[in-house]
Amino acid sequence: MELLEEQRETWGSRGGFVLAAVGSAVGLGNLWGFPYKLYSYGGGAFLIPYIVAMFCIGIPMLILEFSLGHFTQRAAPDAFRRVNKRLEFVGWWGVILGFVIITYYPTILAYCFSYMGDSLVSIFSGNPLPWAGEGIEGVENASNYFFKDYLTGGGYIGPFRGEILLMLILAWVAMYFCIFRGVNLVGKIVWLTVPLPWIMLLILAVRGLTLEGCMKGLAFYLDPDWTQLAKPTTWRFAFGQVFFSLSLAFGVMLTYASFLHRKSDINNNAAIIGIADFATSFIGGIAIFATIGGMAHITAQAGQPVPVNEVINGGPGLAFVAFPYALAQLPGAAWWSLIFFFMLVTLGIDSAFSITESVLAGIVDKTGWRRSIVLPVMSIVGIGTGLMYVTIDGLSFLGTVDGFVNGTWGIAFIGLLECVVLGWFSRLDVLRDHANERSDWHLGRWWNAAIRIVIPVVLGTLFFWSLYDNIAQFKAGEFLRNADGTCRISDCVGMGIMVVACLLAVMMSLFRSPHHKTEKQSAKLLRPESSTARSSGIFGCVIAAVALGLFIAAMTSEQAVLLYSSIALAVATLVMCHVMLERFDNDSMRPSGFARAGGILAIADISLCVLIILINLSKKVADKQTKPLEHADTLSGTSYIILGVVFVLIVLGLGWCFWKAITAAAKNEPEQLQPEEKSLG
Ligand code: PHE
Repeated sequence: MELLEEQRETWGSRGGFVLAAVGSAVGLGNLWGFPYKLYSYGGGAFLIPYIVAMFCIGIPMLILEFSLGHFTQRAAPDAFRRVNKRLEFVGWWGVILGFVIITYYPTILAYCFSYMGDSLVSIFSGNPLPWAGEGIEGVENASNYFFKDYLTGGGYIGPFRGEILLMLILAWVAMYFCIFRGVNLVGKIVWLTVPLPWIMLLILAVRGLTLEGCMKGLAFYLDPDWTQLAKPTTWRFAFGQVFFSLSLAFGVMLTYASFLHRKSDINNNAAIIGIADFATSFIGGIAIFATIGGMAHITAQAGQPVPVNEVINGGPGLAFVAFPYALAQLPGAAWWSLIFFFMLVTLGIDSAFSITESVLAGIVDKTGWRRSIVLPVMSIVGIGTGLMYVTIDGLSFLGTVDGFVNGTWGIAFIGLLECVVLGWFSRLDVLRDHANERSDWHLGRWWNAAIRIVIPVVLGTLFFWSLYDNIAQFKAGEFLRNADGTCRISDCVGMGIMVVACLLAVMMSLFRSPHHKTEKQSAKLLRPESSTARSSGIFGCVIAAVALGLFIAAMTSEQAVLLYSSIALAVATLVMCHVMLERFDNDSMRPSGFARAGGILAIADISLCVLIILINLSKKVADKQTKPLEHADTLSGTSYIILGVVFVLIVLGLGWCFWKAITAAAKNEPEQLQPEEKSLG
């Protein structure tokens, strides 16, 4: 069923779309986010929550974003508008936060360009890399090079660090040229920007694995600390990481799918993208830890031992201090550094331009203005806002803004809003049928339950959890403040950006556009007018309200029984409301708004109850002092099993997807031939 009057531009091929989406998903987050979180939260044990999150939340939500984008053939804001006129702000909110990401993401690419330049200079001049050094002092040297010399050293243009500014402009120019011609060209460029970093990553992994001592590093990566699984924070970070890594909630995947050919597969593509993203993260971790293990061995041999855990440092420290230091210990260090930073650039650039594309498509769809005008203006605004990150406090601003975007009011809230809005206020079956009609394999009814119940409860818990942390900070007088009570500027700027993003989203959705001609048609497809089952809906609402009352009573009286009764009532309400939506949401009727309200109240109640249980659990686990894991010089038997299981899972998963694609293509071929045969005849 075609919704649009005009044919939208499309990706050149299925491969072009899959690679572009993989390009967006696989980014800097895979290389420093995943390995570091795995190392910090239980090694191999972290894989359990991660894989659960990937399959129960990541892939189903990816399918949701793909099907909405493909169904409406519109970028996020307009896509949500087609569900309901009043919901356009949900799309804008995600897109605007996406814009906030592209104000700082290219700054990290700028660092990579500089480090690439340094590696090239070292290759040609034969001088050692500027961050090279020996022993523990060497690590300090690498750290000083990044944090002091590079980030805050001399060479200022006004308040801005000249070199970084130049590289930032270079990053934007590169992004501009990747997308200025539209998605068709993007579909071709990604044939380079996705396989290339994979090849380099494999080269780095093989190099790492052939170093003596590599197993020592891998032991830190993979040896499982099962006690971490009892800590709710481990689960929290696993779910957050999956979300960021799959580029969910910022309208990117939705926009990319809007350019898909009408007949293109949705479900299988989402599964392939999810598994490919996981595989990249996992192999990235192997490359990093094996190399650091090799470094530990080399420094020990040289009589100035640097143990593995002494260099591992999260965030930028991993990519710009620990790993470059480890590479600097290898023969041919400058070449390896060049490969690594070039890999980071190619990994990051397609993630960066995917967000630019989503903002661009949002504005173009809304206003009808030309890409050739909006893109340069957007790039200039992007560089202008990015100036904040090339000042002396740039990295601290970057970290804070990143924390806000990926925190309470960013990813968690928008993802939650997306699922609630689409699960409870649109006809999910329309989207599921739309996806199934053209996909290599079909989604069952479980998908509706996942989007409507499971994911909102999980994201709701994560959201309330972050809110709880913020409230605790506020109570301790630490929210947006330094220890001495003065205002922490970077936090205030981050908070200000979040408020402005929200206001801007509402303003953008209020602004009327001449391009909303067709919205009525799709709105009708998603929401029929007449409503039914009013009394059951009211009943659901009342029970959900009672459950919330019980929760409040449980909080004031600290009685566990009340808490569990509240959960039990809310679960019953949720199931009842879900069944009502499943049964009565069809072409001729829709369940009354009370059923939706009851369901949403129940979700809020369950999330709050689960949060309280998890917080109590966290306190108990924290009280029990767990011994830090002792790592042997070689990989333990369990770690080998984990390694084997993950590889089998990836190979089987991808193999199954490709097999489904091949069998579906074989089935469709005769059908596709028919019209041609007719015209030939
Ligand atoms: N998924 C990208 C990464 O892992 C980051 C990203 C987030 C890209 C959101 C687009 C949108 O680095």
